[in-house]
Amino acid sequence: RSPLVLLVLLVLPLAASCGEGGQGGQGGPSALAPAGFGARRVAGLWWLLFGISAGVVVVVTVLLLWALARRRGPDVKVRTGQGNRLVVVLGVAVPAAILTLVYAVGLRDLEALSDPKDPGELVVEVTGHQWWWEVRYPENGAVTANEIHVPVGRTVHLRLRTADVNHSFWVPQLAPKTDLVAGRVNDMWVRAERPGAYRGQCAEYCGTQHARMAFEVVAQRPEEFASWLAGQARPAPPPADARAAAGRKVLESSSCASCHTVRGTSAAGRVGPDLTHLAGRRYLGAGTVPNTPGWLGGWISDSQTVKPGNLMPPQPLGPVELRALIAYLETLH
Ligand code: CUA
Repeated sequence: RSPLVLLVLLVLPLAASCGEGGQGGQGGPSALAPAGFGARRVAGLWWLLFGISAGVVVVVTVLLLWALARRRGPDVKVRTGQGNRLVVVLGVAVPAAILTLVYAVGLRDLEALSDPKDPGELVVEVTGHQWWWEVRYPENGAVTANEIHVPVGRTVHLRLRTADVNHSFWVPQLAPKTDLVAGRVNDMWVRAERPGAYRGQCAEYCGTQHARMAFEVVAQRPEEFASWLAGQARPAPPPADARAAAGRKVLESSSCASCHTVRGTSAAGRVGPDLTHLAGRRYLGAGTVPNTPGWLGGWISDSQTVKPGNLMPPQPLGPVELRALIAYLETLH
C-alpha cells in the first residue's frame, strides 16, 4: 500500500499547482506562461526536467511494485552478482546520459539568451534603488520609475545598474533573472511577444522592503509605445487651474523638491523617483499600492505606515496644502 500513498502524495501538489499558471495579475506571473524568448527557454527547460523526472518516478515505482509483488518467503535463495550490470546501467549510465543531455540543452539556452546583436534594439537603463526602480530611455531622455514600457516585437536591451546594494531583475513571463551588481553594468535582452502588463519583482534580498520592490513591464503596440515615450520626455504640463497651481507651489516649496524631480518646475531632487508623469503610473511605492488619490495622500502624509523603512519621511502638510498637492500630482500625465 505504501507506494500508492507515495504516488498520491507526489501527484497532489502537482494537481494543486497546475491551476495556478496563467497570465500575470490573477494568481501571479508564471514562468510557465511565457511571453518572451527568454521565458520560453526557461519553460522549455522546465518541461524537459519535468518529463525526465516523471519518467524516473514511473520506472522506479513500477520496479518497486514488481519487487513487492514477487516477494517470497524467508527461505528463498538470493543469487548474488546478477544485479551488478543493472546497477551500472541504471545507476551510472542512465543518470550520466540524462545529465549530459540537460547540460547540453542548458548551454544551448544560455547561448540563446546572450546578445542577439539586433541593430534595431531599444536601450533602456534600469537602476535599482532600495526599494524602487529608476528607468531611463537614453534615446530621448525620458525618465520614469517602476514601470518599463516596451514596444511589442522589438528587442529591448536592458542595462542594469544598482545605486546601492545588489538587486535582481526578474520578469518571469519575459526572461530569467539578471542580477544588478554593485560597481558594474549587467546586460540582458527581452522581447515581448504580445501586449500586456508583465509583473516583475526584485529577486535578490536587498533589505527590509525587498518584497515590495516590484515593477511592471508594459508591452505596447509600437505606435502606442512611441507616443508614450514622446510624452515621457516632455516636461510636466502647466497647472490647469488655481488649485493645481497652489499644489505646484507646495511641491516646490516643501521638502518634496529636495528629493524628487518634476521636470518643468524647480523640483530637481535626485534621491527619489522622478515624478514628472506620476499620474500615468499604475502603482505607488514600486508596486506596493494602486496609484489613486487616496493612496497618494496616504503615501505623502506617512509612507512609513505603508512601506516601513523607505527613505521618504512623513510630510507634515495641512489638509488644504495636501489636497492641493494631490490635485496637482493628479494632473501629471
Ligand atoms: Cu531589491 Cu530585493
